[in-house]
Amino acid sequence: MTISAHGGTLVNRFNPQYDTSALTKVITIDEIAQSDLELIGIGGYSPITGFFNEEDYTSVVEKMRLADGTVWSIPIALPVAEAELKDLTIGDEAKLVRDGDVYGTITISSIYTPDKQKEAVNVYRTDDEAHPGVKQMLNRPDTYVGGEIVLIKHQEPEFEAYTFTPEETRAAFAAKGWSTVVGFQTRNPVHRAHEYIQKAALETIDGLFLNPLVGKTKSDDIPADVRMESYEVLLKNYYPENRVHLGIFPAAMRYAGPREAIFHALVRKNYGCTHFIVGRDHAGVGDYYGTYDAQEIFNEFSPEELGIQPLKFEHSFYCNACSGMATTKTCPHGKEDHIILSGTKVREMLRSGQVPPKEFSRKEVVEILIKGMKQVEVNA
Ligand code: ADX
Repeated sequence: MTISAHGGTLVNRFNPQYDTSALTKVITIDEIAQSDLELIGIGGYSPITGFFNEEDYTSVVEKMRLADGTVWSIPIALPVAEAELKDLTIGDEAKLVRDGDVYGTITISSIYTPDKQKEAVNVYRTDDEAHPGVKQMLNRPDTYVGGEIVLIKHQEPEFEAYTFTPEETRAAFAAKGWSTVVGFQTRNPVHRAHEYIQKAALETIDGLFLNPLVGKTKSDDIPADVRMESYEVLLKNYYPENRVHLGIFPAAMRYAGPREAIFHALVRKNYGCTHFIVGRDHAGVGDYYGTYDAQEIFNEFSPEELGIQPLKFEHSFYCNACSGMATTKTCPHGKEDHIILSGTKVREMLRSGQVPPKEFSRKEVVEILIKGMKQVEVNA
């Protein structure tokens, strides 16, 4: 049996035939709004059917719940620039446009000025403008528009073979005969630590949905196309074919740590996952969050209202004394035996063509990353 969508019904607001010829009002959407529009339209954000009105926005910022009480942790807002706002009134239906193409419409039910300071402190747990998610939120326009959407045109799939709607992933999991599916979020290459926790989960769960985020990330994260190639080579060499489904997650990264972990889990439930991996510092950045804050936040909700089970993993590493991957739960040795490299350190190594140790990352993956990072520099 497939797991229910969040809120009970899988949303589908895609209508490529939708007629916009009579619509004169226009809202220009940015990259983040476009990915949110796509995800609302295909049901990834079920039960959400549009950009947040003020009531849902305030409720999510303050209580991590939609106005009707359903758990939701990240505001899905549509910031609109001053120049376009002056033409808009409640009740209007406006085209949602990016680079001259109409991707959808919104029927405006709410126009409001958010308290961004409060949004920062509540959602990101900091108002430090150096936090990439806070910075991104502050840089977007200061008025939000809410209302139900229609998705008319999908965004250009960058990775077509790995682009699926939740309806499609649900069908794929069912066709494989999986009754339990564990979702894995990542914005990084899959290193040995990631592989270890995925495979630990695969020992008891039927299938793995490897679901890398490919929407907007900060500029020093490894580009999605390089990552996709590294996932392909890793799966080909180290995973049984029939146990993994690779599909992209088109959302933008918020770097909101704990709140984003809840959001990531709920969306994966919509894609058909029954379980979701939350490791160390999930969706974190810098030192803004405690190592396990993103695990602890799950305790604030009942299992029923989440409807997807988090699989929590300790910080994992390769231990020379154990000759294998481990965590402090399974390894008695000290730090001197553990191979731990920060993401920043690894990116530095890759950029300068240095090979991270095989205990940290598979050699096939490293080869792709070094080649990919060189390419990025050539193009920059
Ligand atoms: S994230 O921003 O997408 O969370 P990343 O791609 O690094 O970043 O992490 C993907 C998942 O793996 C997250 O659940 C994270 O907590 C987990 N993770 C990453 N590295 C480790 C590690 N060394 N040990 C345990 N879990 C990890």
